[in-house]
Amino acid sequence: MIRGRRVAANPIGPPVSASHSALVPEWLTAPAHANELVAPVWPASARRVDDGSVEIGGVSVFDLRDRFGTPLYVLDENEVRAHASRARAAFDSAAERHGIRARVYYAGKAFLSTEVVRWVVDEGLSVDVCTRGELEVALAAGAEPGGLGFHGNNKSVGELERAVEVGIGSVVVDSPIEIERLAAIADRRGAVQSVLVRVRTGVHAETHAFLATAHEDQKFGFSLEGAVEAVARIRELPSLRFVGLHAHIGSQIFDSSGFRESAARLVDLHADLLAGGEIPLLNVGGGFGISYTSVDDPKPIEEIADGILDAIADECAVRGIPMPDVATEPGRVIVGQAGVTLYEVGTVKTVAASEDLERTYVSVDGGMSDNARPALYGADFSARLVSRVSHEEPALARVVGRHCESGDIVVDAEYLPRDVTPGDLLGVPATGAYCFSLANNYNYTPRPPVVAVRDGHARVIVRGETVDDLLSRDAGLTASDTTATPHGDTE
Ligand SMILES: Cc1ncc(COP(=O)(O)O)c(C=O)c1O
Repeated sequence: MIRGRRVAANPIGPPVSASHSALVPEWLTAPAHANELVAPVWPASARRVDDGSVEIGGVSVFDLRDRFGTPLYVLDENEVRAHASRARAAFDSAAERHGIRARVYYAGKAFLSTEVVRWVVDEGLSVDVCTRGELEVALAAGAEPGGLGFHGNNKSVGELERAVEVGIGSVVVDSPIEIERLAAIADRRGAVQSVLVRVRTGVHAETHAFLATAHEDQKFGFSLEGAVEAVARIRELPSLRFVGLHAHIGSQIFDSSGFRESAARLVDLHADLLAGGEIPLLNVGGGFGISYTSVDDPKPIEEIADGILDAIADECAVRGIPMPDVATEPGRVIVGQAGVTLYEVGTVKTVAASEDLERTYVSVDGGMSDNARPALYGADFSARLVSRVSHEEPALARVVGRHCESGDIVVDAEYLPRDVTPGDLLGVPATGAYCFSLANNYNYTPRPPVVAVRDGHARVIVRGETVDDLLSRDAGLTASDTTATPHGDTE
């Protein structure tokens, strides 16, 4: 904690004093260097150049602002590729030790565009989609349909139809109703569709803790008992082929302990089901964590891969059964750290947080429309002044957006140089996952473009919206296309 004297007429508020400690979350400590780009949070290519401003992927934040405006999603291509190939190599080498094969599906829900699909496919990953829209992006990118997996608790008939039509690799079935729907579709098309059965193992993992519970009250998948019936039914249906069980135990998981607990339950069920025929695969889902702030400390992916595969191998050995191939579905660990959102500071003000406590609000030109995670989950992020360095003492600030919600928070608590002022650029790192994909048009705000940076070059990979784009959907202004099916679903 920094202690200091009060300074009048200060653009970012009073110094952090002992009286401010109640505003500081327990995990947040004042940085020794408020200009430092903390390594596991920022992409490896992010660095300060001579004038103190930041470049990412060899591209200056000023170039990015001048060419593309703010707010702006910046995605470091080399960083995405590096995480993708590292995850693949980690699971490949763990699998090799056990004499099986591993398959890594990139969870497209984290961030999907045709370019990103091409990068991850290039690095040897398959892709996991969960809607018709995500499926079409993967197909448009040229992904091999046989390498795609399709999830979701309520896939529409149209979505299932399209998946079978294109020859999707596997469908993860989620309910008895869906089994019948999918079987009828595959039957009509003369196809045999590979399916996995999603199971609730009763294990929830979040960050470094996991919880094993007997009862689970959530919408996804089958109970362990329900899965037995589901697999029996699938095996009766000639148009479906049961290839394995699937589970996904949570997100922001920092080690393999939750997976070990889940593996015990999954392998138990897998072993019982072997009586009805061979089962080539076990899919343990995704959820591997990243550093959103300097205190997040996930284990390296290699350690997690080894832990998961060792756990499955141990459980199989105990039961005397052959180890199946193992699939995983990482999303955020592939793209999360590759993303930085650039914002311009619009206003700075200090308010009384309570009778004797003040808090400084730094308002930026985006907010919950481009990053819904703080509002949705109370997610923590960090921020840095990226257009210059400042040698002012850091002060406690809250970075907020421009929307009409008091919960419109980008970074709940952060130390920023106390001279942050309108026109400065702020960078919020670790925004590559679930920011663009959860973006919305609240307050009729156009969604920002996504710009890929690599080796000194920047290019738009998803164009930004304009107000005209938004107005073009208003049927009171334009002739609406009455032939379109709802939500663009298949006809
Ligand atoms: C079934 C499934 N697989 C994989 C993922 C990817 O999770 P993460 O991005 O945390 O790795 C999710 C995320 O919600 C999921 O629901």
